[in-house]
Amino acid sequence: MNAHIIGTGSFLPEKVVTNFDLAEHVETNDEWIMSRTGIRQRHIAVNETTAGMAFEAARRALDDAGMLPEELEMILLATVSPDHIVPSAACEVQAMLGANNAVAIELNAACSGFVFALNTAHAYVMAGIYTKILVIGVETLSKLVDWSDRGTCILFGDGAGAAVLTADECAGIQDFVQYADGTKGEALLCDAKPLQNLFVQNGQQQRYVRMDGQEVFKFAVRRVSESIDQLLARNSLTTGEIGCYILHQANARIIQSVIKHLKEEEGKFPMNVERCGNTSGASVPLLLDELNRSGRLKKGEKVIMSGFGGGLTWGSIYMIW
Ligand code: COA
Repeated sequence: MNAHIIGTGSFLPEKVVTNFDLAEHVETNDEWIMSRTGIRQRHIAVNETTAGMAFEAARRALDDAGMLPEELEMILLATVSPDHIVPSAACEVQAMLGANNAVAIELNAACSGFVFALNTAHAYVMAGIYTKILVIGVETLSKLVDWSDRGTCILFGDGAGAAVLTADECAGIQDFVQYADGTKGEALLCDAKPLQNLFVQNGQQQRYVRMDGQEVFKFAVRRVSESIDQLLARNSLTTGEIGCYILHQANARIIQSVIKHLKEEEGKFPMNVERCGNTSGASVPLLLDELNRSGRLKKGEKVIMSGFGGGLTWGSIYMIW
């Protein structure tokens, strides 16, 4: 049995922040941001919370799937920006939904989070343990970003996306690859609370996202291309057979480089990075929901999904829609 997506949902905060808005706060401009990243605007949470956005996306995904919250057996929520350390956002969403029969687990794999969570759901389905699983990717990265650092604050946005999965004999996830390289973690990092107790008194510590942009760029292009090549080869697929590639929306130039590597048609790589920025773990399910609702994804179509980001982590999925 395969884990198969039968419903999707998403949510974006109301406030839209354009490149022109950002240029009023840091020394930057629309032309620089657009040409380097393809981002024109992003949604930023003002009244929204991580759990609240996740709940909205989950509610819409359950509606789309025609499933009741109490039917769920598992909730897997990927985030690096929860509202609390304890309880997890996964447990908060379980309570908000009234999904009383579902275990709720949170997963941190940065921008690969949703893809890794889908793979985890697939493993549970294959093992015959659960058949009704809700997977969520949600981020409020705006609270982890240094708004005075023009090198990072222009990149990120907030939002949530979700998918409901059930077991299917034919459709759904066919294969996946996923990787981590902790030795390269410093290329993209954000500190948690520093050690501070009766015996250790620390001063203030940097807690914002820091990034070696060029290192991350090179890593992303190389590893995403590699992981897709690997999936195609071991499933005896040619690029011509793939109908759609849903890649993490970090940067339009990263996606264009992958297209070039694969010698693929640009139209098979839908993007929403221009409107949403990089929403980390939420980006793949946000785009997935747009494609599902617009009818872009056709039943039986072969789809590749890729995530990459902090950790460093990366991975790709081959699925039949
Ligand atoms: N506006 C204007 N100028 C900016 C700027 C901004 N927002 N941010 C940086 N600059 C400046 C730098 O200070 C530097 O100026 P200098 O030449 O006078 O020193 C110049 O632009 C070039 O900076 P650099 O960091 O080398 O730019 P870049 O071409 O590498 O682009 C990124 C920066 C972040 C857009 C690019 O590296 C990137 O997209 N990396 C991948 C990031 C990513 O996707 N991360 C998430 C992965 S999940």
